Amino acid sequence: MQVDLRILRYDPERDAAPHWETYAVEAGPMDRVLNLLHTVKNTMDGTLTFRRSCAHGICGSDAMLINGRNRLACKIRVEQLGRRISIAPIGGMPVVKDLVVDMEGFFAKYRTVMPFLVNDAPVPERERRQSVADRERFDDTTRCILCAACTTSCPSFWARPTYLGPAAIVQAHRFIFDSRDTAAEDRLEILADDDGVWRCRTTFNCVTACPREINVTGAILEVTRAIVARHS
Ligand code: SF4
Ligand code: F3S
Ligand code: FES
Repeated sequence: MQVDLRILRYDPERDAAPHWETYAVEAGPMDRVLNLLHTVKNTMDGTLTFRRSCAHGICGSDAMLINGRNRLACKIRVEQLGRRISIAPIGGMPVVKDLVVDMEGFFAKYRTVMPFLVNDAPVPERERRQSVADRERFDDTTRCILCAACTTSCPSFWARPTYLGPAAIVQAHRFIFDSRDTAAEDRLEILADDDGVWRCRTTFNCVTACPREINVTGAILEVTRAIVARHS
C-alpha cells in the first residue's frame, strides 16, 4: 500500500523553524516505520536524519513521536497505523537535526541515580546469592532500554525539565529493590529531592509510551512509598 509519511524536518544550519514534509512511500505488509524511514533516506532524501541501531526493539535508539504517541520506529508496524503516518522527534528535548534529539540531559539524570550495583562487602567465593523472590522484586524494571519514550511523554517533565523523570526513577528502582545492593538509602535521598518522585502526577503517559510494557508508574509509586516509609 502507499503511505503518506509526514516527517517534521529541521536542520538548524538551514531552517529558521521546523516544518513538515510529506513523502509517498510504498509499504509492504510486514514493514515497520523504520523501514519507511530507510526508504526515504535511501531513495528520496539522503539528508533525512534519525537514530537507529538494532532494529529489534533492544537498543532504544529510535523512539519517536509517531501518530501522536511515543513509540519505537522499529517495533510499530505500518499496518497498525494506517495510510497516514506522522513522525516528529520525542518532545521536550533540544532537536539536533530532524528526528535526532540531544540526549545528554536525559543521560545526566540517569547517572544521577547511581544506576549500578553498590556493595563494598568482601566479594564472596561464588556469586552473591539471591532468592527467586528477591530477584522477582525488581524484574520488571530490569527490562528498561533507556529509550526515553516515557520521560519525553510526561507532562510533568515538559513543565519542569529539571524533573528527573520516569526513566531515571525506573533505573533507580532496579537497584533500590535489589537485595544485593547497599546504596538504596542514597538513591532514596536523591529521589526525595524537589526534582524527584514528588513531581509525578500519576498521569500514566509513561506507561502508555513504554515499549517494554514496564509498569513505570507502579515503580515510581513503590519508590515513593519507600521514601515515605523512611520517615514513619
Ligand atoms: Fe523506555 Fe520504558 Fe525504559 Fe522509559 S521505562 S526509558 S519508556 S524502556
Ligand atoms: Fe509523568 Fe508518568 Fe508520572 S507520565 S506524571 S512520570 S505517571
Ligand atoms: Fe534499536 Fe529500535 S533500532 S530499539
